[in-house]
Amino acid sequence: MDKDFFKKNDYVIRRSFIDPNMCTLLYRYVCLAKARLEYIDLTTNGNFDEQPWGTFNDTQAPGDYSKYGDLLFDTLLELGVPTMKEMTGIDVIPTYSYHRLYTEKTILRRHKDRPSCELSTTLFLGHDISNLTDKNYSWPMGIKKKDGEEVEIHLNPGDMIIYRGCEVEHWRKQFKGLKHAQVFLHYNEKDGKYHMPFDTRPMLGLPGACRQERKKEPTRKSIDYGWEPENDYKTFDIID
Ligand SMILES: [Fe+2]
Repeated sequence: MDKDFFKKNDYVIRRSFIDPNMCTLLYRYVCLAKARLEYIDLTTNGNFDEQPWGTFNDTQAPGDYSKYGDLLFDTLLELGVPTMKEMTGIDVIPTYSYHRLYTEKTILRRHKDRPSCELSTTLFLGHDISNLTDKNYSWPMGIKKKDGEEVEIHLNPGDMIIYRGCEVEHWRKQFKGLKHAQVFLHYNEKDGKYHMPFDTRPMLGLPGACRQERKKEPTRKSIDYGWEPENDYKTFDIID
């Protein structure tokens, strides 16, 4: 049983969460979003608001395109709730989605995630490995299991790894291909120790500037949407 495996290992693999047609659509969507950001970056000399368009300055993958809380991927995040329950046995609430287009020679350092990523998934959308002779190449993600053993997990487009982001150390060694699109879908346990619906935004689909905790970071470029939550959301330090 998947949920027994998850309980024992703090991770589980869901094959074919989305079908090949959906993968093609989402992969091309991410590639176009990255090209759009390059255009905006060029025509504004880098003087643009990252909130609606994305960034090339994520410290986890500098130079690669990343975007928080995209409308389409936040929709996928919400659609993933029943699958999360099925695979983990845990009732979850959505926090946020984050997508990224990794490029040549990228490395993802070993890390754990912040509390909004208590229950996380990383979903492989598609890649460009036309520079490689090995057409079966699939960039693996490393995971340190509960018992200390380190495993490398290979996914096909549409597959995802579900893992306890705050507890399981994860990483990727250097990427050998040209492009690799991945979306992270993050959840909290419903009524659990974090329980931050929508990552403290008023609703899904809004940018990170709407996060209540983000207002406490004056150095970040952000928009004040004038929203003050009535809920007693918890605050925390950002790890990455
Ligand atoms: Fe992570």
